[in-house]
Order: sequence, then C-alpha cells, then structure tokens
Amino acid sequence: MAVIPVDVAGAPYEVRVGSGLLATLVEQCRGKLRKRRVPIITDAHVHRAWGTVAENALHDSGHEAAWRILPPGEASKSWDQLCATTDWLLGEGVERGDHIIALGGGVIGDLTGFAAAILKRGCGFIQVPTTLLAQVDSSVGGKTAINTAAGKNLVGAFHQPALVLADLAVLDTLPRRELLAGYAEVVKYGLIGDAGFFAWCDANAAAMIAGDPALREYAVAHSVAAKARIVKEDERETTGQRALLNLGHTFGHALEAQTGFSDRLLHGEGVALGMVLAARFSAARGLLPRASADHVARHIAAIGLPSEISALGLNCDGQALAAHMLHDKKMDAGTLPFILLNGIGNAFLVRDVALAEVARFLDEQLRG
Ligand code: NAD
Ligand code: GLY
Repeated sequence: MAVIPVDVAGAPYEVRVGSGLLATLVEQCRGKLRKRRVPIITDAHVHRAWGTVAENALHDSGHEAAWRILPPGEASKSWDQLCATTDWLLGEGVERGDHIIALGGGVIGDLTGFAAAILKRGCGFIQVPTTLLAQVDSSVGGKTAINTAAGKNLVGAFHQPALVLADLAVLDTLPRRELLAGYAEVVKYGLIGDAGFFAWCDANAAAMIAGDPALREYAVAHSVAAKARIVKEDERETTGQRALLNLGHTFGHALEAQTGFSDRLLHGEGVALGMVLAARFSAARGLLPRASADHVARHIAAIGLPSEISALGLNCDGQALAAHMLHDKKMDAGTLPFILLNGIGNAFLVRDVALAEVARFLDEQLRG
C-alpha cells in the first residue's frame, strides 16, 4: 500500500492507495468511527457492487452501516439531494466529531463533502473513492460542490476529508468508459508538470487500464502525490498553482455544456478533448512545438479517448462553444484564465486570451 500525506495547514491527512482497503475499512479508519452506527453515503451502482463488502467490514468490527443510497449520476449533486442528505444526517444524530463516509465517484464525494462542510458548521468525512477519476483527483484536495440551475459546481466549499482510502479493487467493476474518462485526469499530471510521467503513461497506460495491479497502484499513487504537492502549495487556488489542474477544463467545460452535461460526453472525455485543444491552441500561439501537440493528440486517441471535436457531431460553430466559456466559474474580472503548454510537462496560466481568438481556433478544429 502507498501512503501519501496531504499537508494542508491545520488539517493534514493521508491518502492510502492499495487493494482491499474497503474490506478492512474500520481498521483503516483507525479510531475515526466513534459510534456503532456509521453513516455511509453512496449511489445505487456502487451499493450494488460494493455495499456488501462495506457492510461486512463494518459489521465484523462491531459497527452497523446507516446507508443513504442516491440515484447514480450528476443530477444527485443538487440542492434537493443536499437538503435531504443533511436532514438525514441530522436524523442520524451526526455530531461534529463524527465522520461520514463517502463511498462513490466524484458525484458522491462532492455532495457528501459539501454536506459535511455545512453540517453543524463542519463535521468530519472520509472519502472512499470508487472511480479512477475520484481516486486521482476529486477525493483529494477538499473541493466540494453541488450544481445549480446556473451551472456546474457553482455552490460549494473547501472542506478537506480526514482520510482518503483509494481501494484499487473497486475499480474492477467500473465500466471501461468511466475508467478511460478517469485516465484523462491521470495523464493530465504528466502534461502539467512531469514529462517523465507523461513518458511513463505513453509506455504503460494501456496495460494499466487493462488492469495490471502494480501499474494501477503506481498511476494512482503518483497522481495523488502530484495533486497533494499542488494542494499543499495553493489550497484555495489563490496563487495560480492549483489552477494548473484545470488544464483542458475550460475547453472541456464548453464541450460538456454544448452536449448538455449528458452521457454524450463524460467529464473526463471533455477534459481529454480539452487537453488536446489546449495543446493545439498553444501550438497555434507559437508556444508549443506542433509535434508535441500532435503527440498529445496521438496519446489520447491511442488510449481510446476522444481526441477530435470534429468527430463529436456538434451542431454549432466556434463562437457558440466560446460563449459557454463566459459562464465558466473561473471568469475573473471579465477575463478567462487559460492553462496552456510550452512543453509537455510545462503548463502555465495566461489571462490574455480573447474569446474571439478562441472562437476562430475552434472553428478550425470543428472543420477537422
Ligand atoms: P460519478 O460519481 O458519476 O461516477 C461515474 C459512474 O460510475 C456512476 O454511474 C457511478 O454509479 C459509477 N460507479 C462509481 N464507482 C463504481 C464502481 N466501482 N463500480 C461500478 N460503477 C461505479 O462520476 P466521476 O467521474 O467519479 O465524478 C464526476 C464528478 O466529479 C463531477 O460532478 C465533477 O464535477 C466532480 N469532480 C470534482 C473534483 C473535485 O476536485 N472535487 C474534481 C474532478 C471532478
Ligand atoms: N480538480 C481540480 C482541483 O482540485 O483543483
């Protein structure tokens, strides 16, 4: 098992990465479960696949699971589910010193984390991420949120978990499409700051995705360590360091918005396309060698992720895509920060991108 410390001021915690952590949940939680009944929030897919393992782990150590099982999918990150979940937690008598368990992907982690942030002005929670995306990104770093009618993740809080248990065994039931979508966030760490890791991804990602346990542990632990370093430097995304994690996200967000935040394009697929676009946009600005942008696109395509927006069948032009960016929550005093590349493994933030320039670039990309 790999143990990665996340050294945030005031509330450092560990991310443990290994196989079989859910089956030894109580032992892993080391005294954080103070009461017999343990509140666990999950979704119906995860409960079907892993509910019994969690239930038995608790039962065998003298605990009882109090389940809240939400409908799978992004729609559960809503005001309605937040209200119902906090009411349920209050009904369960959860106190500030207790820990709520979030067993699921980014949807469950974000909702549970936000509920924990506001319940009694902040109680403990433990992330047990069950998607690759949640293991390498969303469960670490304390961003929690729900969606509103105005957009995604617009209401939330920074609230760090007390512990993250990334059990590699749970990835065995994850649909391949979800696994690939999560991989986009893995290779992102190579692109933003670690050319050596990008090279590792080139050589090993296919076998890692196919299920090689040692490669999976390396990919998840290395990604978490990269994120932990960034979160330690810039927990609240104020210095620009943490913003680098948004590589591909501004383009990706526009594509997700254009496809209605639906199954047509998963978040990680949008990020994969967005990273290709960010690389090509960097090349178009003369910042990145065109060969490097081609390399990024080839890597994304070879792994089975979408790499060409011309293949999405979008019925819109570049201006319509760029218009979605105006509603991006990263808009700051009328400018939209973009993360660009001047090398594989070297991302940086710019604030001088005009939406008209992006629209022209996207028109070219839409033509293919
Ligand atoms: P998700 O939570 O919707 O999970 C994807 C699907 O996989 C769901 O249908 C779920 O039921 C299923 N599933 C999960 N684990 C499974 C397993 N082990 N076996 C079988 N099925 C399983 O999606 P996600 O991709 O994990 O997360 C996306 C969310 O994460 C978005 O809401 C996004 O905004 C958020 N996010 C947050 C952060 C952050 O820093 N907080 C970072 C990135 C993304
Ligand atoms: N997923 C981006 C961040 O945690 O900042």
